[in-house]
Amino acid sequence: MTKYIGILTAGGDSPGLNAAIRGIGKAAEAFGMQVIGFRDGFRGLMENRTMRLDGAVLSGVLTVGGTVLGTSRDKPNRMPIGGKRMDMTDVMLDNYQKHHLDVLVCLGGGGTQKNAYQLVQKGLNVITLPKTIDNDVVMTDVTFGFDTALGIATEAIDRLHSTAHSHHRIIVVEIMGHNTGWLALGAGIAGGADVILIPEIPYDVEKVAEAIRWRQREGKSFSIVAVAEGAMSKQAAAVLDKAAKKLSEAEDKATKKKLKAKLRELEGQHVGNTLRLSNQLEHLTGLESRVTILGHVQRGGTPSAVDRLLATRLGTACVDFISQGYYGVMVAARGEGAEPVPLEEVVGKRKIVPPDHPWIQSAHRVGTSLGD
Ligand code: F6P
Repeated sequence: MTKYIGILTAGGDSPGLNAAIRGIGKAAEAFGMQVIGFRDGFRGLMENRTMRLDGAVLSGVLTVGGTVLGTSRDKPNRMPIGGKRMDMTDVMLDNYQKHHLDVLVCLGGGGTQKNAYQLVQKGLNVITLPKTIDNDVVMTDVTFGFDTALGIATEAIDRLHSTAHSHHRIIVVEIMGHNTGWLALGAGIAGGADVILIPEIPYDVEKVAEAIRWRQREGKSFSIVAVAEGAMSKQAAAVLDKAAKKLSEAEDKATKKKLKAKLRELEGQHVGNTLRLSNQLEHLTGLESRVTILGHVQRGGTPSAVDRLLATRLGTACVDFISQGYYGVMVAARGEGAEPVPLEEVVGKRKIVPPDHPWIQSAHRVGTSLGD
């Protein structure tokens, strides 16, 4: 019997999405399955905005960045409609049934896994793929998009070296990664940053300044500081910890809501941190300092070969799992292959850089300061 597959891409775009869509589409075709795309993430499923994913659309997208389906950060149960947030999961269920879908494939990061799971709880058959440049999805070796962003951020650090060196400056380069440091740590090591600051290791600004002054004493009058967008000082981390503890101890719903909002506000305060850090370093070292925020450049453009390969591997494996009747799972990258992991084991978790990770040990061993 023909199977009908719906696909959507949700959350921030990520290089490799089109390669995954193509992998799913082509492998499904070989099984005689029909594939239909929903535009702009869960919003397209709610609004029933579809796109045929036939051979004409699928050919030529392997190397293209972004997603041909479009994406959005809209959540099924908190869909912004007319200034309000509404639970639209029932409408999505209706549209799923209208198209006689056997399964919905959701391509996304941690947030998408959570949103997809809500639809599982509504009774939909769902399979997800892990994509994000942040590499922060649990239970998978890696997410697609990460390798491309790592390459872009590394090249940026390479380029910043010559200008920092020529001007005897500090350059503080802000790298994406949400609340994890995979991208900053990886690019920082690969690009030879002198200091790497990540959210998992709160920093002491005086220690960062001392690392830069030590380089000056060694005759190196420039320094590259790679800072993850979510990195924070020890003081800021202590405030955040206190707020998180209060939240975990709160008993009534209203207090919990208030404290959750407070925590989110505190987490959002990292915006502007990089500039503040740069000013502090200028003051503490006497060197001129400049800030470079890499931003969305890290997510744009053609995917690396590694990401194309990974996305194709997971996309085609996804179709195998569909043909075997696996639902409610994420297609995780494991070694050279792929494994279906129950979504319950993925949702609500974030893969952070563990303190004893080999990358951290390597960074220390080549003399990079982590600001701790
Ligand atoms: O999750 C990917 C990511 O690029 C993060 O690194 C970053 O914090 C966030 O998305 C930026 O989101 P937006 O594209 O909505 O500005």
